[in-house]
Amino acid sequence: MHEAKIQALLQKMSLEAKIGQTNLRGMHSTESELPEKLIASVKKGSVGAFLNIMNLDYVDELQRIAVEESPNGIPLIFGRDVIHGFKTIFPIPLGLAATWNTQIVEKSSEIAAFEATSFGIRWTFAPMLDIARDSRWGRIAESPGEDPYLASVLGAAYIKGFQGDNLTDPYRMAASAKHYIAYGAAIGGRDYNTVNLSEPLLRNVYLPPFKAAIDAGSATVMSAFNEINGIPATGNEFLLKDVLRGELQFDGFVVSDWDSVTEMIAHGFASDEKHSAELAAKAGLDMEMNSEAYEHYLKELIKEGKVSIEELDEFVRNILRIKFRLGLFENPYRNKEHTGNLYAESHLKEAKKAAIESTVLLKNKDSILPISEKTNVAIIGPLANAPHEQLGTWAFDGEKEHTNTPLDAYKKVNTNFLFAKGLDYSRDKTKKGFQEAIDIAKKSDVILFFGGEEAILSGEAHSRANIDLPGAQEELLNELAKTGKPIVLIIMAGRPITITNIIDKTDAVLMAWHPGTMGGEALYEIINGIKSPEGRLPVSWPKTAGQLPYFYNHKNTGRPADSINYIPMDKIPIAAWQSSLGNDSHYLDVGFTPHFPFGYGLSYTTFKYENVSISKDVINFNEDLEIKVSVTNSVKKDGKEIVQLYVQDIVGSITRPVKELKRFKHVFLKSGETKEVTFKISSKDLEFVNHKIIKDAEEGTFNLWVGPNVAQGLKASFTLKK
Ligand code: IFM
Repeated sequence: MHEAKIQALLQKMSLEAKIGQTNLRGMHSTESELPEKLIASVKKGSVGAFLNIMNLDYVDELQRIAVEESPNGIPLIFGRDVIHGFKTIFPIPLGLAATWNTQIVEKSSEIAAFEATSFGIRWTFAPMLDIARDSRWGRIAESPGEDPYLASVLGAAYIKGFQGDNLTDPYRMAASAKHYIAYGAAIGGRDYNTVNLSEPLLRNVYLPPFKAAIDAGSATVMSAFNEINGIPATGNEFLLKDVLRGELQFDGFVVSDWDSVTEMIAHGFASDEKHSAELAAKAGLDMEMNSEAYEHYLKELIKEGKVSIEELDEFVRNILRIKFRLGLFENPYRNKEHTGNLYAESHLKEAKKAAIESTVLLKNKDSILPISEKTNVAIIGPLANAPHEQLGTWAFDGEKEHTNTPLDAYKKVNTNFLFAKGLDYSRDKTKKGFQEAIDIAKKSDVILFFGGEEAILSGEAHSRANIDLPGAQEELLNELAKTGKPIVLIIMAGRPITITNIIDKTDAVLMAWHPGTMGGEALYEIINGIKSPEGRLPVSWPKTAGQLPYFYNHKNTGRPADSINYIPMDKIPIAAWQSSLGNDSHYLDVGFTPHFPFGYGLSYTTFKYENVSISKDVINFNEDLEIKVSVTNSVKKDGKEIVQLYVQDIVGSITRPVKELKRFKHVFLKSGETKEVTFKISSKDLEFVNHKIIKDAEEGTFNLWVGPNVAQGLKASFTLKK
């Protein structure tokens, strides 16, 4: 629809102006006035987009110069990392994934877009769709978790929320599905590390969320920092051209990550800056973030015939297409009347709802939770009143002054509490606050310990090798346990935290992730039974970092681990022979299961699953299979369950995962109520990419399970036949 206009523009544009469109420039927010050099670049048409300009006068002025004074009057796009909210901060993406709720994800992104567009931001560097299977990796906090199906449905919801149905809507932003691709497969969970993946694994696990985002209309894609099998993602012609453009039919533009073009030199893939520009251009990268290899060398490379003008035209076409779709040519300026309703009541309400639905109840001995509002509690721990920290990573614009902490929430409505931090921050190793915390614990009925990690311990370049509670938190919990008072541990963190050492000292454990602006009230309502925790784990929760990477949808191996053969290390006789140890795939000291399985989360209600049935024992490739199960709420409290369907393809032309999530449904059940839940799948859902890189379902027998998490469920089997 815009192609004719784009073509007409291209014909007018000089080589320099075309190269200008490929430049995405950053600006430090500390700069007190617009640098002359920047003004001159925009005037010349040498910049296509900016990121991180938060001074509204600069946004307006730069756009004015671009539209009124640059040679072709092409508007700029202003971008920013609006990841899980702009001012109103929602739970970190891993927390949003724990809601398993597309409506929440969509709404949170819509609100983020509404607030951010008031600052002229029409492009966000989100959603992050990297499958993450190693909790040591700091960026697991920003990920949708370990499962390709869950990540795909949530990925599409993010795009819908950020972009709406029509990108010209001035309250919506272009999204950027990132980081293409397999950034989460970094060896050892160490950020930016090398990735080695077979092509079937890449296509079966890492690609689906990107496909879902592109099918949902993602305007842009960001290339990843990492290499894949020796070729950096930013210079990877196969992935950018053949897969992204050819197979996925992506027609927006691809932006590099920050300096990821010139980082190909450090990778040992490009010999110098000029070579990095050539490699990125030949691979089909449209826009360069921050580094300036295109600006410095594209002209020369074109003159030398190493990059063609047609290739550059294609980049510009892709970029202009998105500028047209955003309506920037008709409506380039920020609407000064649009305030964004920052922190509006309705935004805070949604943020609270998201925090409630993301909170996962991991343990609840003797149903200690919920407590009554009359209970005298001791509020202890470094995250009980850490307004900035509970916002989590990549929350640039959230303000601690607007953050509601658990202590704030208590102060607002309840006087039955005492407060002592115990530790100043999560890594605090001093014990100077211990005595005060123990004293208030002794005077209370229940200890609420808000622990975990500060925002800075997860996110980019913040991987950890040991993911226990940092600092002296375990020691403090041990001391508090000596008081004999029940302990509710509430974890705020950007990743699963290994709590094997300490869980027996606790009576209940809630995982709140970094819950965002409204985390305090959300947790108050959960703890006091006004609301139920509704989250389910989007990642397997490890017993120890030594188990990582861990993911539920692993393969069986030739010697699958099982509970019959597994002998825990402390039960092994002192002088046993190798053959007596159970020769299967497990660790002697921690076995083969995680601490908590994928999909797990308790609730204040108990749900009973009965009578799983399937519509047919044998289906052909054109038929649907219907799966039904009865779920009953057997407790005197209404509640919500997330019913999950997993499938196993028992034999394949390449080995298949032990289980794969295929569907899930949120079901609300009144006390005593039974509902029949129905799922439908077809051979399409059973397809996978094999060693010949052919995507198809294969004939054979399949197991399926319907249940509350991957480790529990009612089983049935069916056969797929041609
Ligand atoms: O969007 C981010 C990306 O995720 C990591 N590097 C910097 C980009 C822009 O801030």
